[in-house]
Amino acid sequence: MVARAKQGETSEQGAAGGQHKPAVLIVHGPNLNLLGTREPEIYGRTTLADIDRQAVALGHELGIKIETFQSNSEGAIVDRIQSARGQIDLLIINPAAYTHTSVAIRDVISAIEVPTIEVHLSNVHKREPFRHHSTIADIAEARLMGFGAEGYMLAIRAAAKMLATRKAH
Ligand code: DQA
Repeated sequence: MVARAKQGETSEQGAAGGQHKPAVLIVHGPNLNLLGTREPEIYGRTTLADIDRQAVALGHELGIKIETFQSNSEGAIVDRIQSARGQIDLLIINPAAYTHTSVAIRDVISAIEVPTIEVHLSNVHKREPFRHHSTIADIAEARLMGFGAEGYMLAIRAAAKMLATRKAH
């Protein structure tokens, strides 16, 4: 699937010219705005602003347009993903605490019908049992956890490969 530019929006051209760059949305769930100072022994010292900056720069390098979004509110996350429908080629999401509870986020991911990579900074399976369940694990294309902030960059590299493979078909 090729991302369609919104009406009135300037479309970005791929390095090859004439082709739309694939678009990836990265969504961060609740409390991830506190990264850097929140339980750094678990989540590391990299701030969310740093992660987003690195993600956009890596996307640029790989020929992918990256947008990022963070919210502490489940409804705002659902709204943002809904508005990405038909506009993105792949979703990368760390639903944070909503991972373990949210049917609404699962449903909107199913609704937009794009491959989704689930990312967690920590390895949730090494932690409390309530963190072992993910409402999106079985609809995600892939899951990455335990790599800290680097997990997002690994997800972007994996996304670039997935999108390139898809285009070749
Ligand atoms: C998290 C793990 C969740 O259990 C937790 O609620 C978070 C962050 C992670 O990235 O490791 O907020 O998604």
